Amino acid sequence: MTALPTSPECLTMIPREIAAVKDYEQFAKERLNANAWAYLTGGAADEITLHENEKIFESIRLKGRVLRSVAGGNTLVTLFGHTYAHPVLLAPVAYQRLFHPEGERASALGASIMEAGSVVSTLASIKWEDIVSSTAYPSWFQLYFQRNRADTLELVKRAEAAGFKVIVVTVDAPLAGIRNREHRAHFQVPSDISAINLKSSSPNEVMNAHKSIVFDHLMATSPTWNDIEWLVTATTLPVVVKGILDRDDALVAEKCGAAGIIVSNHGGRVIDTLPSTLEALPPIAEALGKRIPILLDGGIRRGSDIFKAIALGASAILIGRPYIYALAAAGALGVAHTLRILREELEVIMAVTGHATLQDIDENCLF
Ligand code: FNR
Ligand code: LAC
Repeated sequence: MTALPTSPECLTMIPREIAAVKDYEQFAKERLNANAWAYLTGGAADEITLHENEKIFESIRLKGRVLRSVAGGNTLVTLFGHTYAHPVLLAPVAYQRLFHPEGERASALGASIMEAGSVVSTLASIKWEDIVSSTAYPSWFQLYFQRNRADTLELVKRAEAAGFKVIVVTVDAPLAGIRNREHRAHFQVPSDISAINLKSSSPNEVMNAHKSIVFDHLMATSPTWNDIEWLVTATTLPVVVKGILDRDDALVAEKCGAAGIIVSNHGGRVIDTLPSTLEALPPIAEALGKRIPILLDGGIRRGSDIFKAIALGASAILIGRPYIYALAAAGALGVAHTLRILREELEVIMAVTGHATLQDIDENCLF
């Protein structure tokens, strides 16, 4: 009888073949089943935005500048009262036990080793308190609004008590989006993995045949700007709004009391043919000036991508899929290694183009 093929073990050392962040992808693919792979890699519909997020970085050239002193340079950035060693954070990603048995805890440990901030999903597959206690570096809590304010407030208070430092409220995914890649793979969250921090969701109400499942059901209780204003007053933590792509929305977020925003299209996962985040950034940066920090995620795979985002107005960036590939391949070690690669690549570009600090980087640094 032939043995069933087994997937390779999680790496305990990083092989030489993994020199760049993207090298992790193949190692992750060998270790994940088709279900987890479809969830991780997929985007909405034809995945145009998903690909555009990465491609746009390739089309922008750095400006070569020489012979400028960068002695004493650093990558420090201060966000919401804390100074971070570098501007790379882990984006919230749901159900991380799909990718590694230690899930979110391993990611938090990897972030801690590399002094990176990390954002923990409402849909984490491990207790939030256990994730926060796995890192010595600040963790932020990503909030999905619940069906009523009382339930939402309960999550917020629990996040405060757990020691999270920032609330990131995600506003671009009131519903999951139509992800054909997941549908084709029959994606399902396995029965032994769940969003264990939430009360079990109430059974779906029976839909009336004349009602729209989108407008009358999914969106009937979805949040609006009033809820952002409410959230800002309901928590002692700074509130950062994730999922902004439009300058007017950025200004409304500021008016509602947001401490910062994240320019994001959810990694191209909710609706397709939105602009890439790097394209969306400049008008938003112009509108907000330097009044509140702007973060960006989507498509960041190189230190040069980070440099370009900062040049166009971001204070810091987040990575999503790249650290999950590394988590799947090599657990906390892989997550830490991914962060180190990005930090080193950024430092090399800053040093060689003559920029000693992140504050020295602006659009004049691009060709
Ligand atoms: C996400 N993202 C996400 N965002 C969020 O606010 N809450 C969440 O629970 C999740 N879950 C999630 C799962 C998976 C598998 C992925 C790939 C992404 C979006 C994420 O925070 C981030 O916006 C994008 O992943 C950034 O794009 P890149 O770095 O993956 O290109
Ligand atoms: C996702 C949701 C959970 O992107 O945010 O899968």
